[in-house]
Amino acid sequence: MKKAFDEGWGGVICKTLSLDSSKVVNVTPRYAKTRDYSGRVFGWQNFELISDRPFETMIAEMKRLREEYPNRILIASIMEEYNKNAWEEIIGRCQEINVDAFEINFSCPHGLPERRMGMAMGQDPEVLGEVCGWINGAAKVPVWAKMTPNVTDIAYPADVALKAGCEGVAAINTISCITGVNLDTLRPEPSVEGYSTPGGYSWKAVKPIALAKCTAIAKLIERDYKGQGRSLSGIGGVETGGDAAEFILLGSDTVQVCTGVMIHGYPVVKNLCGGLQKFMAKHNFKSIDEFRGKSLPYVTVHSELVKRQREAIAAKKQRVGLSNDAEWSGDDFVKNAESMVANR
Ligand SMILES: Cc1cc2nc3c(=O)[nH]c(=O)nc-3n(C[C@H](O)[C@H](O)[C@H](O)COP(=O)(O)O)c2cc1C
Repeated sequence: MKKAFDEGWGGVICKTLSLDSSKVVNVTPRYAKTRDYSGRVFGWQNFELISDRPFETMIAEMKRLREEYPNRILIASIMEEYNKNAWEEIIGRCQEINVDAFEINFSCPHGLPERRMGMAMGQDPEVLGEVCGWINGAAKVPVWAKMTPNVTDIAYPADVALKAGCEGVAAINTISCITGVNLDTLRPEPSVEGYSTPGGYSWKAVKPIALAKCTAIAKLIERDYKGQGRSLSGIGGVETGGDAAEFILLGSDTVQVCTGVMIHGYPVVKNLCGGLQKFMAKHNFKSIDEFRGKSLPYVTVHSELVKRQREAIAAKKQRVGLSNDAEWSGDDFVKNAESMVANR
């Protein structure tokens, strides 16, 4: 996290913490890459769990970080079991070191759902609403609910979290996946002692899905929470300034990067900021606010596309003749002339 700040990242969200890390046991290998036919990597699977480092160690390090970088944003990502006291305790402990906000991991798709945590909570609106109520009762700083894309309509659980008092929503966490099957051994990948488990998919391959999910949440916030200071943190396949601009154009207030840093290293932020500045200069945008959500009105329902296309075709048909000399085409000279004859 210190390295990230030194490279120029504005904020960090820690690896998800829970009070009892002894229950968190990772296996290796836990990552796998997906490649196209030329061998280029475009997707990344992981079945890494939340932090397996002791809570006390993490909190002590984050306290030091807080003191060394008082002006940067430090967000605690937390996850607990279905137990109000545990949530209140973890929130209290993180607030003692003055974190700026919480991101609640309601979305890890592997391992933790077996303990009814992570995605298991995010997929159950009743539990989600109740737990968000506990969290917002205890938190004195803003809370983002990090949502899973592994639902039919992500706007529904996002709405539950916002109604229960969350300041914002972060999306997406990874998409449930199996990288593939090894055609020699016939075992699914990534293989641990010959067995596998569905993991979470991230990076470039998921960006189109993330953009659609974030758009659905941005539309919800615009429709039902306008002017209430609610926010959306866009995640999924971001690594360039162009990627960040796309999420912001579709209504994200901030963007996050995870796999991009694992692949390219912390300095990826320099390229990201440079690219974003270039995009802004090209369109003469002086601030992020000037283009946030600018593309959102152009995402609509399919029937609206049909209506617009029908109207455009009808308008073209109605047009008589050429509008100016530049429209004469050598090949259709006779047809062009005919189109302007009154008594055809
Ligand atoms: C190896 C790995 C570990 C992750 N660990 C966490 C985690 O502890 N908590 C969390 O909320 N999300 C975790 N994520 C999900 C990412 O934060 C992010 O939501 C997702 O990967 C999509 O963004 P990306 O394409 O930029 O990676 C992890 C992702 C990866 C690849």
